[in-house]
Amino acid sequence: MWRKISFVTIGSVLAALLAFAHGGARATGDGFVGTRGSQFVMKGRPFYFNGFNAYWLMYMASDPSTRDKVTDKFGQASKYGMNVARTWAFSDGGYRALQTSPGVYNEDMFKGLDFVVCEAKKHGIYLILSFVNNWEGFGGKKQYVQWARGQGHFLNNDDEFFTDPIVKGYYKNHVKAVLTRVNTITGVAYKDDPTILAWELMNEPRCQSDISGKTIQDWVVEMSSHAKSIDRNHLLEIGLEGFYGESMAEKKQTNPGYGVGTDFISNNRVPQVDFATIHLYPDQWVPGSNEEDQAKFVEKWIQAHANDSKSILGKPLALTEFGKSSRSSGYTVGARDKYFQTIFDNIYNSARNGGAYGGALFWQVMAKGMENWSDGYEVVLEQNPSTVGVIYQQSRRISSLD
Ligand SMILES: *[C@@H]1O[C@H](CO)[C@@H](O)[C@H](O)[C@H]1NC(C)=O
Ligand SMILES: *[C@@H]1O[C@H](CO)[C@@H](O)[C@H](O)[C@H]1NC(C)=O
Repeated sequence: MWRKISFVTIGSVLAALLAFAHGGARATGDGFVGTRGSQFVMKGRPFYFNGFNAYWLMYMASDPSTRDKVTDKFGQASKYGMNVARTWAFSDGGYRALQTSPGVYNEDMFKGLDFVVCEAKKHGIYLILSFVNNWEGFGGKKQYVQWARGQGHFLNNDDEFFTDPIVKGYYKNHVKAVLTRVNTITGVAYKDDPTILAWELMNEPRCQSDISGKTIQDWVVEMSSHAKSIDRNHLLEIGLEGFYGESMAEKKQTNPGYGVGTDFISNNRVPQVDFATIHLYPDQWVPGSNEEDQAKFVEKWIQAHANDSKSILGKPLALTEFGKSSRSSGYTVGARDKYFQTIFDNIYNSARNGGAYGGALFWQVMAKGMENWSDGYEVVLEQNPSTVGVIYQQSRRISSLD
């Protein structure tokens, strides 16, 4: 989601090979989430999930006075049957950064992330951790490019994040720093911790300067291999929103009228990528369209990617961001609940019929007292009982499919 940046101003090797020979099952040691064909699996059984995004977890966890927000949210989420949270394992440069400059880390922030991982485990919640942002929130590709410029290198634009050797080196070092981090609370290296469901290469990669898709394709190939060379325990996904590209050009008609330099098919076909993701923001992507057209777009976006994940990719799929903004026209809590219900019905029906969806994560959970962080999409669980009801029902029915 690209309007979530308001805060920035302040601030077991053999398994994979063996499993491949085993009908497309992938990766993972005991207790890790894996995949088999187009399903997620856990200990040999299908694994379904319902969950949320909360990009602020590390930030709040790194300050003892706000740490309880993390514990509280995990506690509530788990009470409502949620079992996956997606959050940032990055904060590059700027106010209370994790990575203050290339390869230099603020230990207090890393300890915050340690706390998040530890609390997630305690509450039975799996994490999807993202390595960097496409957008400016918490640094992102722009910060990486600026760091290289600060070292005297000439870079034209932020999309050189994907191609410049210096910047790619910074990024690879960050991936390694996170994967090899030993949790100061649990003593377990991140790369060995089954609490982590998956790594995500980037939140919403886009490369508008190369719509052909070659730039992102090459970057995904290189960076997914890099991550897997350090960690074969965990699943890996790209962080894509789901836009189609040139590899199957006829599918571009599903896009909201434009491309972003990614290719849902060819990017996700990269062998090191274990499952596909989509995001869904009809209010931003097809602005000005009426409610009926947006509903049609939603239905098509959800179904097209399910079909393609199953029949073309043979990999599972997760809807890793969707939400409804209180700033969108005609917004009411009731309209949001109805929208969530529609999405959940689609995901559940796909899962129940053996489709590719493993689950969905709404954007986003916030705690009370985070009004400053509001982007319009936040769900404050204790203030939204009707929304919680819709979420809880989805958690219960989807977990009954395991
Ligand atoms: C998905 O596949 C189903 C079953 O084959 C088909 O009826 C539907 O039209 C497809 N939807 C899209 C959007 O591709
Ligand atoms: C958040 O809001 C409070 C008052 O509502 C203000 O004092 C504080 O500076 C704000 N913090 C940020 C980070 O903007």
